[in-house]
Amino acid sequence: MDADVPGRVVIFDTTLRDGEQAPGFSLRHEAKLRFARTLDELGVDVIEAGFPIASEDDFEAVRDVAREVRRPAIAALARSVPRDIDRAGEALAGAARPRMHVFIATSDLHLSRKLGMTRDQALEAAVTGVERARRFADDIEFSAEDATRSDPDFLAEMVAAVVGAGATTVNLPDTVGYSVPEEIRAMFRAVRQRLPEGRPVVLSAHCHNDLGLAVANSLAAMEGGARQIECTVNGIGERAGNASVEELAMALKVRGDRLPFTTGVRTSVLFAASQLLSELTGEAVQANKAIVGRNAFAHEAGIHQDGLLKDRRTYEIMRAEDVGRPSTTLVLGKHSGRHALRARCEALKVTLSRLELDELYRAMIRRAEVCKVVEDGDLLDLVGELRRAGPQPVAAAPSPAPSRRSRWESPVTIEEPGYGFGV
Ligand code: KIV
Ligand code: ZN
Repeated sequence: MDADVPGRVVIFDTTLRDGEQAPGFSLRHEAKLRFARTLDELGVDVIEAGFPIASEDDFEAVRDVAREVRRPAIAALARSVPRDIDRAGEALAGAARPRMHVFIATSDLHLSRKLGMTRDQALEAAVTGVERARRFADDIEFSAEDATRSDPDFLAEMVAAVVGAGATTVNLPDTVGYSVPEEIRAMFRAVRQRLPEGRPVVLSAHCHNDLGLAVANSLAAMEGGARQIECTVNGIGERAGNASVEELAMALKVRGDRLPFTTGVRTSVLFAASQLLSELTGEAVQANKAIVGRNAFAHEAGIHQDGLLKDRRTYEIMRAEDVGRPSTTLVLGKHSGRHALRARCEALKVTLSRLELDELYRAMIRRAEVCKVVEDGDLLDLVGELRRAGPQPVAAAPSPAPSRRSRWESPVTIEEPGYGFGV
């Protein structure tokens, strides 16, 4: 893969491991396999398919994904203990490109309160874990859990030790989403400066979203030298989730002027991946979620709709089509204006005189006050009522009335302005 190009960032998708670990998001192994195929289409570089020691079903998921999905590397997670590592290795046996992912905590809080270990014991466990993982693969990732709350000198010592033992990727997670961008950028810079010489290693960021900073922290980590980002579709993951792949990929695409990094993500598959994940987990995406939420490309306010109809760049920084969505949607609600109403009517092949538009507009606002959103079917009903009541018939095209569709399927075609944003 062209992940060796400077500025090319490896996308490590952990939807099927960290994401799936979150309450309500668990997936059976058949569903994982189905989703892994979509991740392959999406173009991610690494799919973390599960934590094989956790359950028989997770073992089978990793095994089946490894056997079937051949382009991306397939990763399996293991604590730095022999039985986890052997189980992960067994699950990855059929993989074209296996990646063993071994982790241990490095913060004093986790070492003393959770693991009851000293720093020296953790160092030894990490080194023997990485060495053992090498029995199963050459591609070894080591994660220093709670890295952002670890002592910087101990973290640097741990990184040097695992790289010496054969780790090819070192992940520095913000496990509890505590970091801020400035800090994480500095942490990556410091670790990079202290890397042992002569051993190529990729530094990786894995940011949780407890303060809503996972994507910002991941971007800052790239500036500090991270060249792998761990993320999930829809940002799912432990607690408030992980950095969302759709937000990262589009931030890099839309703001390439400030963020000189590229990924292999096919952004036109983002929406389908998001929808499939929702379907498989039964968990809806928040309406205002960036990129993939129901409202991410929907506009109701009259001023915005008017601007969009004149030039979509007034209120949109990317095209819905670029993320695989049908199109921009102008929602008809009580904040909408006549310009949007006319555009929707034209899309429905209903031609209105000025007077008819005014009447329909008033009727539409009254309807919207009651039902929030006026769908195409409601609008056609209103047109019919006006036609029956009004002195002047509303001229409709001879073609059959469109079927009732959800507002997601009723795009309004907006003239293409030609974006100057490199999208
Ligand atoms: O958040 C975390 O630290 C993790 C590691 C296991 C990578 O998920
Ligand atoms: Zn995590």
